Amino acid sequence: MTWSQLDWNILDRLRAGFIGGTAAQGPYWQSEEDLAHYDLTYAERIGWKWDAVLREVRQRGWAPRGGLLMDWGCGSGVASRRVLKAFGAERFDSLVVWDHSALATDYVSQRAAKDWPALDCATATPGFLEAGSPIGLLVISHVLNELDEAGIAALRRLILRSESVLWVEPGTKDVGRGLQAVRDTLLPEFRTVAPCTHDKPCPLLAAGRENDWCHFFAAPPGEIFANSDWVKFGQRAGIDLRSLPYCFLLLERRPAAEGTGQAHDGTLSRVIGRPEFFKPYARLLNCDASGAAELTLQKRDDKALLKALEKAKGPLVYHWEREDNFIRTGQRFGEAPAEA
Ligand SMILES: C[S@@+](CC[C@H](N)C(=O)[O-])C[C@H]1O[C@@H](n2cnc3c(N)ncnc32)[C@H](O)[C@@H]1O
Repeated sequence: MTWSQLDWNILDRLRAGFIGGTAAQGPYWQSEEDLAHYDLTYAERIGWKWDAVLREVRQRGWAPRGGLLMDWGCGSGVASRRVLKAFGAERFDSLVVWDHSALATDYVSQRAAKDWPALDCATATPGFLEAGSPIGLLVISHVLNELDEAGIAALRRLILRSESVLWVEPGTKDVGRGLQAVRDTLLPEFRTVAPCTHDKPCPLLAAGRENDWCHFFAAPPGEIFANSDWVKFGQRAGIDLRSLPYCFLLLERRPAAEGTGQAHDGTLSRVIGRPEFFKPYARLLNCDASGAAELTLQKRDDKALLKALEKAKGPLVYHWEREDNFIRTGQRFGEAPAEA
């Protein structure tokens, strides 16, 4: 599939289903061509979000422990492909794919057989879906708003069989808050490695925070803006390619002995969404173990930090020194302290 073969009837139909909600009414892939069209365009854009998430979790020193990799709601398989590329197919014993469309599972299995001939890849059988056998890493991508209660329950059963779960969704308010709620229901069994810097119930679900949601922005590869195919695609599809809002969860099963104890040291904060910059200060929504709060960083308190925050790319995770809701100074996680 190449850009010159694009059939806009297919892309328009798929997009109308995603936006209009009919995608939640049952399988919608009509042919292998649908999946190939999706894979070249919408799924590749989702892949850029996966790239951002995988960069972050690797920076944090996280890697899957191996075993069976499962891609649930696989579509054209972008999530498992990005994971296999990031960590190496040899890390996993096998790949199991599942989607309620057989066209999708066939598409992903065929691609996997070509891309990773040594990796054992299979479509989940009803027996596998009902069994209790362990799953090493479960990947889930852009599926939450297509699920009814039965779909969520089926997914939940698989999550509870998994050692780790990596789940990426669009950064819209409804989906973001939905993912926050799922996280909280799983807290007894799983610790949140990322994006949270704590293991407390999600502060953005607290009363009074109904208008906030956990989300971030990924940067697409710079070269797409000089690529006429992508530029035309963005215009024709009505998508701002610069803006890639996403939310995600990396969950790790708690060791049995750990109970619900803290996995984080509680000193780190994460900035939600984007900070807002005004001339003498920045304002941001902060999340940490003490809750969520709107914080202000004034230029007069730390000019260099304000400048660095404005330029910062990637996850905004910091050790702040605060007085009430004012940040006096701070240190970005993973960066060396600035020279005095
Ligand atoms: C928007 S696509 C995302 C595909 C892929 N995960 C990605 O990120 O590109 C949603 C996928 O979930 C599948 N799906 C929706 N509801 C499902 C369900 N209840 N069980 C299994 N798959 C489901 C759809 O068939 C579709 O392939």
